[in-house]
Amino acid sequence: MWISFAGIITNYKDVKQFLVQKGHKFRSDTDTEIIAKLIKHIHGLHPNYSFRELVEQVIQQLEGAFALCFKSMHFPGEVVATRRGSPLLVGIKTKTKLATDHIPILYSKDSPEKVELKEHSKLKDHRPHGHEIPAHGLARSQSTSEFLPQGDNKEVEYFFASDASAIIEHTDRVIYLLDDDVASVEKEGVLKIHRLKRTLEDTHAREITTLKMEIQQIMKGNFSSFMQKEIFEQPESVVTTMRGRINFDSETVVLGGIKDYIGEIRRCRRLLLIACGTSYNSAIATRQLLEELTELPVMVDLASDFLDRNTPIFRDDVCFFISQSGETADTLMALRYCKQRGALIVGITNTVGSSICRESHCGVHINAGPEIGVASTKAYTSQIISLVMFALMVSEDRISAQPRRSEIIQGLRNLPDQIKEVLELDSKIQEISKKVFEKKSLLVLGRGYNYATCLEGALKIKEITYMHSEGILAGELKHGPLALVDKGMPIIMICTRDNVFVKCMNALQQVTAREGRPILICHKNDQEPQKYGSSVLEVPKTVDCLQGILTVIPLQLVSYHVAVLKGCNVDCPRNLAKSVTVE
Ligand code: F6R
Repeated sequence: MWISFAGIITNYKDVKQFLVQKGHKFRSDTDTEIIAKLIKHIHGLHPNYSFRELVEQVIQQLEGAFALCFKSMHFPGEVVATRRGSPLLVGIKTKTKLATDHIPILYSKDSPEKVELKEHSKLKDHRPHGHEIPAHGLARSQSTSEFLPQGDNKEVEYFFASDASAIIEHTDRVIYLLDDDVASVEKEGVLKIHRLKRTLEDTHAREITTLKMEIQQIMKGNFSSFMQKEIFEQPESVVTTMRGRINFDSETVVLGGIKDYIGEIRRCRRLLLIACGTSYNSAIATRQLLEELTELPVMVDLASDFLDRNTPIFRDDVCFFISQSGETADTLMALRYCKQRGALIVGITNTVGSSICRESHCGVHINAGPEIGVASTKAYTSQIISLVMFALMVSEDRISAQPRRSEIIQGLRNLPDQIKEVLELDSKIQEISKKVFEKKSLLVLGRGYNYATCLEGALKIKEITYMHSEGILAGELKHGPLALVDKGMPIIMICTRDNVFVKCMNALQQVTAREGRPILICHKNDQEPQKYGSSVLEVPKTVDCLQGILTVIPLQLVSYHVAVLKGCNVDCPRNLAKSVTVE
């Protein structure tokens, strides 16, 4: 048996206990092994079951979030794949055109019920007797033969993956599977998609989607890691985020995915921005502008904490769910929680067809292109731009907001060139990184719009360098963190000319008075803060609400260089996954 597994099985101990009682021996303590042993056990009890039926039996016993792909020597030439809570797609490659752009769902006539594994229970025979019945009463032959390629060459290859970037070099045609879909490729090369139970919300077919991704988007090219490539892609990725949405001459912004909901949004009680990790930091980065331009109360929440609190949600709330992958379990659960309570759900994602994308009422695709490095970089800057565009769109009808809107739109226009300028600091940042890479800790200080940069910079540093790092609001210094400051403590401080500049200078002086010599990120040619820094990274000036995009890039580069100097795996940091599909 060959199994490819992503996710977590939460009841694996119960299943294991049951299988041990049945005489199965285990070589590991992993949840993966129980899946292999369980299918073997059911096959022993019911040798006449088809491969797909065996998998259907297995997944009824499993709890948790998973994407699974099975192959077996007992069923040569067959593959069965299924998902629940973790993403899974099927890529289809044929020499000739397919005769259809969708594949109908097949249901078993007698829906098998779930069997509880109890101490003395025996896995019962829940084999669905009778025919498979396709939805909408399509005959079985119709539903399957239609799917084969047209013409004489019926050759077809299938690829199973959790992300489109893994298969784009082979094919651009994919089917996104939904929870509890069971996809099977049988000997004749026909793909079928089954579901255990028919529910009211079921759509009757899975669409074959053509990906718009280019192969070069997922190749490293001359870069040493995807993360480095993705940092350097930002002058282009911010342009794709804005393309077709901002008209810089007429100073108008249209986000196609939410334009029909703008009236409802303007009338709402409050905006809630809910996300995890870097995506949460993008909400912190834009909260102030959203409050200013929408004149609405804006709540920002970490998805896990939001769920822990059973937060009250009302029908006239508008809830934003920000997620690069669109699959983060906590964010998705928070989305479902708010949807059940009648709020309007807006998805901000980078992954077309993802769960958050599908389950939202409306949304914005950030169009940053595939992000492969585990550490999020270009998605962060594109998330900020997407939320800024949203604020601009909502405030379009406010005459008093026009000068502010205009300065922001022109700021966005200049951003790509300014990002290029910041990226030129790379070799200087590499030198600075050599001075800090052996230290135990690195504090990142700032306030106002740059506070999100501090959180995000510190997250990047701890994530890929394994060094302790903390983003600290400069206004909080004297409430505790100042005690950490001495001449040995490495500090990066962001001090740009905005409405909190004077307060930042004050914090800087408090740090230097304790012999701290921070690395400073400040505006080009701004002499005043520079005299207090051990080294200075000068960034171009932009509008306050966009400044965080230019100040975070040096920190992305610091984390990258420190990780390289420490010999860490930049793209795949230990203990972390790109999509966190488990709680
Ligand atoms: C950090 C990072 C994570 C993700 C978080 C949410 O670099 O990538 O903190 O931001 O796991 O993921 P998404 O945005 O996919 O919901």
